[in-house]
Order: sequence, then structure tokens, then C-alpha cells
Amino acid sequence: MKSSKYKTVKTDVLVIGSGGAGLRAAIELHDNNIDVLIVGKCTKRNAHTVLATGGINAALKTMDKDDSWQLHAADTIRDGGEINDTEAVITLCKNAPQAVNELESWGADFHRENNGKITQRFFGAATYRRACFVGDQTGRSILNTLVDQVIKRNIKFHSEVYIFSLLKSNNKASSPVNGAIGIDIKTGTIIIYHTKSIILATGGFSRVFARSSSRSFENNGDGIKLAYDVGVSFMDMEMFQFHPTGMVYPTQAEGILVTEAVRGEGGILTNANGERFMEKYDKERMELSARDIVARAIYLEAKAGNATARGGVYLDISHQPKSYIKQRLPQMFEQFKKFCNIDISKQKMEVAPTAHYSMGGILVDHTTGKTAVNNLYAIGEVTSGVHGANRLGGNSLAEIIVFGRLTGNHVAHDVKNIHWLPLDRTQINQKIATLTSNRGKNPIIIKTELQKLMWENCGVARNGKDLKKALSNLQKYQKMNFKTGTPLKNNKKLIAALDVHAMIPTCELILKSALARTESRGAHYRTDYPKTSKKWRKSILCVPTKSSYTIKTKSIPSLPKELKMFMNKQIKSHLLE
Ligand code: FUM
Repeated sequence: MKSSKYKTVKTDVLVIGSGGAGLRAAIELHDNNIDVLIVGKCTKRNAHTVLATGGINAALKTMDKDDSWQLHAADTIRDGGEINDTEAVITLCKNAPQAVNELESWGADFHRENNGKITQRFFGAATYRRACFVGDQTGRSILNTLVDQVIKRNIKFHSEVYIFSLLKSNNKASSPVNGAIGIDIKTGTIIIYHTKSIILATGGFSRVFARSSSRSFENNGDGIKLAYDVGVSFMDMEMFQFHPTGMVYPTQAEGILVTEAVRGEGGILTNANGERFMEKYDKERMELSARDIVARAIYLEAKAGNATARGGVYLDISHQPKSYIKQRLPQMFEQFKKFCNIDISKQKMEVAPTAHYSMGGILVDHTTGKTAVNNLYAIGEVTSGVHGANRLGGNSLAEIIVFGRLTGNHVAHDVKNIHWLPLDRTQINQKIATLTSNRGKNPIIIKTELQKLMWENCGVARNGKDLKKALSNLQKYQKMNFKTGTPLKNNKKLIAALDVHAMIPTCELILKSALARTESRGAHYRTDYPKTSKKWRKSILCVPTKSSYTIKTKSIPSLPKELKMFMNKQIKSHLLE
């Protein structure tokens, strides 16, 4: 393709990802008088944030006056398997109330008590009611609020552009990023973004698994791939969260999230024999235990032969009045009516674990958002550290707002000292020339195969033999070519090929890290190493070498005194054989 066929756009800062994290960062940059452009893969109000349903955590104390940022932090670290980035957790919990208040001042319509205070409800593993919500569409409300702010400020926004490569000023490992290449999905136009700085806000990789709460076009690991290719380091890639309650049927609804808010509002889990099985796994917290514990409990019930014919368990909220359910859980009410013809105010829901959230990701310094590559920053689900080995429900919406603002602010200062570096046209031409191919496998089929491979060998329960098998099978995909055909516009095979190209290195890092961690901790449950080991209170790093990535470990400093006294409960998960 000739260079005249593509378009070049110049912007000081490029934010890749149009979910809550990216939008909040862009708002901060704009408000600091920085030239910023947001580029997203989907339409403007449809980023993955809309699927974050149940709530946003902040120790506002509107319902429980004894709550505090310290307790919020202690809950996050305890059920994060104590491998969280402590400083990042402290920043999150201290800043979360400000984030909620800011969203509210911008128009987010949080549910309120009669006294006017924001209502807060229970979420799993939270000592107090801490999740603020807008029915069960909290993420949608937050995203709409942020999009309104972006529009009001006239911030530049490219929708439906798939960024498939970052650019460096030259081929040296140490050289900074200075651009990105994307394809406008609808028109097929190739766009070269020439930038001083880039913020990755691309979300996670839950779609590398066959059953996922993400839609098929999102969370395929494209942010991980972009970072992998420029030599960024990653942390705790094995720590992947399976949400305990996804829909089980019909096929087109499989994996869709059944919000934790159902349990927060009193939902009860029973197995096919009618037993309230959480008594066996966490007698104290029951259905409001941490996600890793509930997901594993459902898995173990199924293994013991106590699941429904479809492999699920039941979730029942029918003891609550219909009007209450329709007010607090309107989307769940509609979702089960639409897909299963079930009235959840009268009948039980059938649920099973679904791939939901990537705790691992790019290694960043959370105080600045900096990655190991100059001028490249990252925020939100594509990063690692905040949630450790298991994320608390409601913490991701808080994270994207808090770190979106803070990173936006740091980049605004840094970018003033960055000079323009010329684009390397040879590099660009090479990347564009290999974009399409008329030979190779059908990438749509390969994508499904890979998702199955990961679900079957690296799901809720893992073991060394299966992980090794999956890693060895992955080699076959690493060598594959994909037939995309032409033209570039509306080319579903091309998009699937880009997804598969992103999934392969993402899966490699997950599998290598999962093999390396020979213990069970948080969401990482190894049937061949079922216990949590003190010596593994470490993070696993994937560090670039000349040709690939190697595994290293990183010790975690002991908790600061100000938090230690709040860590009053023992970690009680992981000991399930
Ligand atoms: O279950 C949920 O509503 C999910 C929330 C979250 O992942 O934070």
C-alpha cells in the first residue's frame, strides 16, 4: 500500500481506549490545556464500561459510619491475596470518595436514600456497604456522564478505529513510542497517529476465554499485544478473575454477567440438591464471600456432582418484593425475561462462573502511570497491581476514575518536556504491508479454537499438565498465517485476525505465569498445588528479552503499619482441595 493511501493525524497525547479510564484521563489532559485525542474500537457510548453493572466502591460512610479508606484498603488487600501494589491500593481508597463526588457533580444519577445521601450496598468481601450504584447499570451511567463531559469540552474522538501497532522513533529497544497505526473498521482507512505520548486504556483480556462476560469484539488482549511488541514488562498475568455468576443458557446468553449486586441485595445460592452450599466454603460471609471463593465453590459443587444438568447452580432473589427487584436490579429482571423467559421475582436464576476481569497486565508505576517504555503510559484493566490476586467487585469503576485522573495529570506535566520525534516511514510501510493476506487459516475459526484451549486448560481450576499442554499447543498458532482477504473496509476476517494476533502473546504470558506460580492464591487455583504458600507472596513478572519474554519474581514489601491493624481477618480461601 502506498503512503498516499493513508492518513496521518498529529496529536500531543493519544489515548487508546474509550472506556471510563481513557475518557477520564482525556478530560484531565484537556483541562490542563493539552492537545489530546481519544481513539476507541467501538462506538462512542458503547465501551466495555457499560457492562460494569453493580457499583463503584468508595468509603463515603453514608450507610455505615464506621467505614473508612483504611478498611476499604484492608478488604482490597486481604482478598487480593496480599500481593497487591499497596501504594496503589492506598491511592485508590483515599481518592475513591472524590471520584464518586466528581461523577455526581457531572450528572451521574446515583441511587439516593430519603435523606438525600447516596445509597451504598454490600458487595462481596466488603466489611461495610460501600458500593454506590445506579440500579444495575452503574457503568453505563458513568460512561455516559464522561462522554457528556468529553463532548462538552469538544475533545477529539475517533470511534471504531482498531489500533493494531505502536510506533517507535527507531528500532532500538530503548527508543520511545511516538505513534500508533489504526484501521477505521467501517471505511478501511489506515490512520497513522503521530504523537508525543500515548496512554493505553484498552481494557483487559477476558475474551481469550470461551465463556466470558465480555462481548466478542472487546477485551481480546489488544492492549497487551501493543505493549508486548514494544517491550513493556507485565505482572501477575496468571491472576485472572472468573466471576461466579454468569448466565448459563441459552447459548447466545452464555457468560453474560449476573451482577454481584443480586447477592448484595440478598440473593441466595443453592446447588441442584437445594443445599445452600456456601456454608461449606465461607460460613461467615456466605454468598458475600470474595469472588474467587464463590467461583471455586461453584466449580467444586459441579465436580462433586451437585450442579444442574447445564452445569450451573441456582441464584434466588425471589424473596425480595418485585418492585424492589425492578428498582435495584432492572437489567437482571429484563435479561432473564428476555433470554430465559424467567421472572426473577418468582423463579430462580441458573448461573455458573464466567471469565470476567484481568487483574494482571502491564507493569506500571501507579503514581504516574508510566510503563517501562518511554512516553508510554497505561491505566485501568490493562495494568496490574491494584487488585492483586483477586479483585473486589466495585473496585474497577473506582480504579478507572481515580487513576484516569491522576495519570492524565502526570502526562499533562510530562508531555510539556517531550519533543516531536519523526515517524519512521519504513517501519510503517512494513506493518501495513503485512496487514492482509490471501493465504492461511480462517481467523474466525482460530479465535474460537484458542478461546476453547484457554477455557479448558487455564480456567477456574488449573494444573501443570494442562498448562504445559496449552503452552505447547499455542506454538502452532504462533506460526500460523491468516487469510483475511480484501478490501480493508468492514472486513470481519481482518478484525478477527487482529484479535488472534493479540490473543496469542496474551495467552503465552498467562500460561507461562500460571505455570510459574506453583501455589494457589486468589483467583489462581492450581489443583496440583492447592495451598497458598508464604514463599509465594510475590508477584510474577514477564520481562522482555531480545527475542521473547522471561519470568522473574518481585517481592512484596510488608504492609505499612497504618493498614496492618485493619487486616483483622485471615485469608481463608485457597485451602480447598
Ligand atoms: O457483578 C458486578 O456487578 C460486577 C461488578 C464489577 O466487576 O466490579
